[in-house]
Amino acid sequence: LATLDPVSASDLAALEDVARARLDRGAYDYIAGGAEDEVTMAANVAAWSALDIRPHVLRDVSAVDTSTRLLGTQVSAPVLVAPSAMHGLACEEAEAATARAAARFGTIMTLSLAANLSLEEVAAVTPAGPRWFQTYMHRDRGFTRELVQRARDTGYAAIVLTVDSPALSRRGRDIRNEFAPPSHLRVPNMPPAPSGDALDPDLLALAAAFDPAVTFEDVSLPTEWSGLPVVVKGLVRGDDASRSIAQGAAGVVVSNHGGRQLDGTIATARALPEVVEAVGGRGAVFVDGGIRSGTDVLRALALGADAVLVGRPILWGLAAGGEQGVTAVLTMLGEELARAMAFCGVTRISEIDRDLLDWADRPGRR
Ligand code: GLV
Repeated sequence: LATLDPVSASDLAALEDVARARLDRGAYDYIAGGAEDEVTMAANVAAWSALDIRPHVLRDVSAVDTSTRLLGTQVSAPVLVAPSAMHGLACEEAEAATARAAARFGTIMTLSLAANLSLEEVAAVTPAGPRWFQTYMHRDRGFTRELVQRARDTGYAAIVLTVDSPALSRRGRDIRNEFAPPSHLRVPNMPPAPSGDALDPDLLALAAAFDPAVTFEDVSLPTEWSGLPVVVKGLVRGDDASRSIAQGAAGVVVSNHGGRQLDGTIATARALPEVVEAVGGRGAVFVDGGIRSGTDVLRALALGADAVLVGRPILWGLAAGGEQGVTAVLTMLGEELARAMAFCGVTRISEIDRDLLDWADRPGRR
């Protein structure tokens, strides 16, 4: 990381180059890749850049504050660590490094069910958090119940319930690479594989434990079990968002899983306005997918998101420089957001609104 001095958004791409050079082909492609033709993955990135900004001038921006409150948690910037599997692929310290960087930056680390460290181990390295825990609904509801209760008992402040994975996607890179995670990696939060071999993180076999019969009626279960708020992650429609909130979700994440599930799914920047409108302030709205700069964060907030989640760039930072690399990524995004706010004449997160975008050019408008 010593060779890297992040000064602009393009440095996230530079960081990815460093990560690519350090990682095995299989691991790099597993993180970088998407489903099928990777159309949605590319569309996510492109849709943010397509949103033109209409900055204000001649406003006092001598003090810009990027901090905000999300489901009761104060963060230094509305940039969260997205849940992503197996940080041990990128760095020996795995999720411990990511969690430390997130805590130091002052944002929420969302720990993945498929993490290489247990939720207790990650809680032990960042006792003060803030942390959220992501899971799927398992066929064995008792297993999910125990997980969310363990999350509550170890200080996770919310449960992120991923709902976009009723089937396994086909990821060409992983198929071509015959990708299998290195055998030393464990996924201690997941149920044991059907083979009974808990030591083999065969994600495909493990994912068979997710329940494809889960419905809106189940959305409130994690809250009933743990008392924690639930954020439903992985929807792109206003009606689904509205129903999730009506069923007790505290928020939703507009997400197509980084283009890793159904290829052809609408880009999240294009889906976001409909979801914001449907939720109508009844819950929090988060978005992920293709956020690559602080300016993209501003665009997401201008479309009505409360915060963004960042996935791949975090892993590139982790591979390039461990905890320090993740800190560099979060700092870069936070500083870019502050700079974009100054350019736009806004000093507080709550002042960022749709008027800052060329609404006539909004994605999807013909
Ligand atoms: C896991 O959720 C993945 O997208 O690989």
